[in-house]
Amino acid sequence: MSRCKLIAGNWKMNMTSAEGSQLVEAIKELLPDGSDACQSGVPEVLVCPPFLTIGSVVNAARGSCVKVGAQNIHWEESGAFTGEVSASMLNEAGCTHAIIGHSERRQYFAETDETVNKRTKAAVKAGIVAVVCVGETLGERESGITNDIVERQIREGLKGLTPADMEKIVIAYEPVWAIGTGKVATDEQAQEVHAFIRVILTDMFGEATSGAIRILYGGSMKPDNAKGLLAQKDIDGGLIGGASLKATDFAAIVNAASQGK
Ligand code: PGA
Repeated sequence: MSRCKLIAGNWKMNMTSAEGSQLVEAIKELLPDGSDACQSGVPEVLVCPPFLTIGSVVNAARGSCVKVGAQNIHWEESGAFTGEVSASMLNEAGCTHAIIGHSERRQYFAETDETVNKRTKAAVKAGIVAVVCVGETLGERESGITNDIVERQIREGLKGLTPADMEKIVIAYEPVWAIGTGKVATDEQAQEVHAFIRVILTDMFGEATSGAIRILYGGSMKPDNAKGLLAQKDIDGGLIGGASLKATDFAAIVNAASQGK
């Protein structure tokens, strides 16, 4: 089954509106001309700025192949949830995707598998593609429980979703020990967990659905290691933090994905 690759930039809490639109202008210059995502091996390209920067980035990206996503989403439509943003607000702002359950949200903002599940369902309901993040910490890997952790995060995070809902889901496997540390998982380590995730997805949703779901790798992906990772059978793209803040690096990763499997 051939899956269109997705290269997604997670800008985290970086880039003002002015800086973000400049970055997208620079990325546009470097991407293949008039590239039509998913045709002739060109990956889909996504950037996820902070909420306040989304508007200017949507404007800058207009007419290009660059899609814009958020870094979080609340499960309610509206109401007394100070500091949160709903799916309809993101839709109106022009977001097509939202990152959900990033390890920094789990670590610093009390995100749990249960809240990941609620946010994911809200995204799907609103027609927003949820990029659901999973991954083990260094301690968990060293204790030999990587698969247990990832399986729990996948099963709980996607609980109650149907195979049809899964058309709006992308998984991102991000080993926490590789995020922002420069310590990237080896191609084999990453492929092993991606293949395991696909086994879980097959058990939950059946083979056809599982075979169509994109599983991204995230954690210190850079131009010099992207090609090897993206050539792995079950690695369908990248969720890129640090390297997505530099147009040349991000575009180089998009190019590496274009030449992938
Ligand atoms: P990194 O971040 O590429 O800077 O390691 C990845 C992520 O947190 O999504």
